[in-house]
Amino acid sequence: MNVNGTHYRTIWLRAGDSRIVEIIDQRALPHRFVIEKIATSAAMSTAISEMHVRGAGLIGAAAGYGMYLAALEASRSRTLDKRLAESGALLKSTRPTAVNLAWAVDRQLVAMAQGSTGKEKIVIALETANRIADEDAEACRAIGDHGLEIIRAISRQKGGTPVNILTHCNAGWLAFVDHGSATAPIYAAHDAGLAVHVWVDETRPRSQGSKLTAWELGQHGVRHTIIADNTGGHLMQHGMVDLVLVGTDRTTRTGDVANKIGTYLKALAARDNRVPFHVALPSSSFDWKMRDGLREIPIEERGSEEVKFADGWRGRRHLEVRVAPQDSPAANYGFDVTPARLVTGLITERGRCRATEKAIVALFPEHARKPARNRRPVAPAGRVAKLSCH
Ligand code: MRU
Repeated sequence: MNVNGTHYRTIWLRAGDSRIVEIIDQRALPHRFVIEKIATSAAMSTAISEMHVRGAGLIGAAAGYGMYLAALEASRSRTLDKRLAESGALLKSTRPTAVNLAWAVDRQLVAMAQGSTGKEKIVIALETANRIADEDAEACRAIGDHGLEIIRAISRQKGGTPVNILTHCNAGWLAFVDHGSATAPIYAAHDAGLAVHVWVDETRPRSQGSKLTAWELGQHGVRHTIIADNTGGHLMQHGMVDLVLVGTDRTTRTGDVANKIGTYLKALAARDNRVPFHVALPSSSFDWKMRDGLREIPIEERGSEEVKFADGWRGRRHLEVRVAPQDSPAANYGFDVTPARLVTGLITERGRCRATEKAIVALFPEHARKPARNRRPVAPAGRVAKLSCH
């Protein structure tokens, strides 16, 4: 993606110093474009948990580079493998819902086990981190090609008048290494000369829609309008949405989709109004072991201050303001699960399919073997919603 005309990925190695990873600190967007240097695996864990980087694909790539930094740090230690396992556990504990995080850490640990010396492990870790990042960018590019066909068909039906697409949170370039998942078909359609307009859900409490999606659509020249989170149903009732296109942090092999809190309500409104609801994802966001999204997917619960405060910039000053009574408790569930029955289709790097186990496995036959039944849910890595009443 281009930022003011210069091509960027969201994560890369520092030119001239491959012991440093650089990221875009997304907390400052859209007001400032800040590049942050990450020199240790612990700093990468902090960057993930405090959301300097976020979004399923980027979290996975960041974890991949975090493990490379861990290999650099531990290479001379006598307890190298133990230290790598500890760094992996810390990275995994930062955010529990996006499966890409654990997937990338485990991939690194398996790959590094092939090396016998510290030096070998470093080389393997760097290769693997680069491969995870490159695969993520390439998967998103391919998702763009496959999703473009959906937009093209709607555009044809509408005689070339703008296709109105509603999206939630940021499943864009900033949530991956490049292109984005939900935004990739939008960019592809825009680049192909189709008229598109995007309704951008603000996505409280962290406002990834209004801060990040709106910014990146603007950088690409895509027409868009920011809406408050509760607006989508009204727009759908009035025929102002042709397609809902979202990303996912974890999708079960049966097609249940975990995504940013509020996605489920959009899916319900879409079903009630016969608006197609598509989910775009690279295969790294499938959890091949899970079958029941509602029962098994760990839902992150973040601090209540994210709900009770809003933040922004006045000139060069970052300000936080309270938007709720000081003494009222607040709950902050980060994600929800949209059951497969509400999903019109999935868009992956290998093509499109229905949100059913049969159709998903037909696209990814290497995962055809069913996971053991009645296995206990995977122990959640981070802070997980208690689902209590407040
Ligand atoms: O809490 P975030 O900003 O990491 O959540 C991101 C989302 O929910 C995106 O929609 C999601 O990651 C899907 S696309 C990567």
